Amino acid sequence: MPTDSFVPNVIGSALRDNRAMEYEAFVARHLDGVLRLCRAEGWPSFPADSSRALAVLTAPGVVTVVAVEGERVLGFAQVLTDGAIQAYLCNIAVALERRRQGVGRRLVQEVFAQSGAERLDLISVSAADDFYQGFQHRTFPGFRIYPERLDSN
Ligand SMILES: CC(C)(COP(=O)(O)OP(=O)(O)OC[C@H]1O[C@@H](n2cnc3c(N)ncnc32)[C@H](O)[C@@H]1OP(=O)(O)O)[C@@H](O)C(=O)NCCC(=O)NCCS
Repeated sequence: MPTDSFVPNVIGSALRDNRAMEYEAFVARHLDGVLRLCRAEGWPSFPADSSRALAVLTAPGVVTVVAVEGERVLGFAQVLTDGAIQAYLCNIAVALERRRQGVGRRLVQEVFAQSGAERLDLISVSAADDFYQGFQHRTFPGFRIYPERLDSN
């Protein structure tokens, strides 16, 4: 299983306009930036409980990579992995002002590589389809299943 011990803190960097975009393993000081990105997307699950979000983003079997410029978190991607075969992309977001600059693609490449898995599944939204089409891929019908409600009579 992946752990912080084999995910280097600074994974790589790319220069843009003389500023370095660094790709780093997520640590607690990145949490506020990740929550800001989630709020900007209208994603409630992480901002609703920041302690839970921190636990989820650093849980066993989770790889989370952030794109940072200086101290600002401008993107993140979170993957669940069995460490060898199968991984699942749970979340990816890039700040609006840094989109279409290759940040999202690099985040996918970084989390996938760090996951150690052979394949990466995900559920897309139609607005992101063109982004995922750019990777070598196959498409399948997707489902998200929720717990069944047990009606009490
Ligand atoms: C999807 C998302 C992560 C892509 O991040 P990004 O940094 O803009 O993506 P990249 O710059 O790496 O894009 C790589 C390629 O994907 C394609 N692509 C990305 N966004 C696209 C868009 N909105 N429309 C068409 N093609 C797109 C392009 O081919 C692009 O290469 P190009 O800019 O040289 O043409 C970003 O748009 C985002 O955060 N969206 C909101 C959150 C979201 O929808 N997450 C995914 C939920 S399933």
